[in-house]
Amino acid sequence: MATGHVYVTRDLGPGPMQVLRESGREVVVHPDRDLPPTRDELLEGVSGAAGIITLLTEAMDAELFDRAGPQLAVVAAVSVGVDNIDVRAAQSRGITVTNTPDVLTDATADLAMGLLLALNRRIVEADTFLKRGGSWSWGPRLFLGRDLAGETLGIVGLGRIGEALATRARAFGMRVIAAGSRADDRGYVERMPLDELLATADAISLHTPLNEQTRHMIGARQIALMKPGAVIINTARGPLIDEDALVDALKSRRIRGAGLDVFEHEPAIHPGLLELHNVVLTPHIGSAGEQTRTGMALLAIRNALAVLDHAEPLTPVSNLVNKGVHRDAVPVSGAGVGKQGES
Ligand code: GLV
Repeated sequence: MATGHVYVTRDLGPGPMQVLRESGREVVVHPDRDLPPTRDELLEGVSGAAGIITLLTEAMDAELFDRAGPQLAVVAAVSVGVDNIDVRAAQSRGITVTNTPDVLTDATADLAMGLLLALNRRIVEADTFLKRGGSWSWGPRLFLGRDLAGETLGIVGLGRIGEALATRARAFGMRVIAAGSRADDRGYVERMPLDELLATADAISLHTPLNEQTRHMIGARQIALMKPGAVIINTARGPLIDEDALVDALKSRRIRGAGLDVFEHEPAIHPGLLELHNVVLTPHIGSAGEQTRTGMALLAIRNALAVLDHAEPLTPVSNLVNKGVHRDAVPVSGAGVGKQGES
């Protein structure tokens, strides 16, 4: 059993923390429940650690691994995305990186569907209208939105979460298309190149990991291809979209709307987005279902403990890269949409 404490960058809730403590290992938890550790607190906390359990808000890089020391055996992410972790720097030091695929698939697809519903049926605008008070009466054009049935949903990144969204969209009567050329084993998702998808879809939802190939994959050129009535949903990672270009397109009504759970410079929100009525914004809550978050925490803890006990972790990122499965887990260099760049 590797020696050293397990550093946890945020309290993961009573149930999961009990499981971790019952392992008998020394556990050090960043004391603030609401805010991540500062960089200095993080570097101090990991010093001498054998394992780190991290949230997506913490940058896990070479400097941090070196500060932890050569006994650091595992970095267990409580997230499916690992773009905050320098996986190569970890692997080159023999550190195992793990993540939490599967357990958050449904919750994230639910939120993407919720954002689409909120935009198309103008739920947030209508709620704000009523809460402002004043008289109103039923009217044939009051908060007229768009039906979902019969509209085309374009999924960019048909991995686990994209597929779960496809199932939901299908149940709402939508036609579903996806970027890429991989064969569709469901039989109802039509594949096409990204540019064609952008020009065809009424709603576009992003589900790719963030890496150097996917950063700003939606910029001014791609937005110009979209239909004027289209909306875009992002529950994946903010930097997939060039936010300046998006704000310009939303302001000029070049596109109809956006539903965003993630932001380019998170936690900062582009000031232009805050002024717009045709956007629905949520603070990165894609996986924020109680059962889902508990499942993620427990999976991360089990991964960390397994590595520390010299056993196989359940969902290692390194093996996922090597085996080419769990496409959503890893920001693989060279990943392209329709291949590994899917989530
Ligand atoms: C959330 O964004 C995750 O990657 O799990």
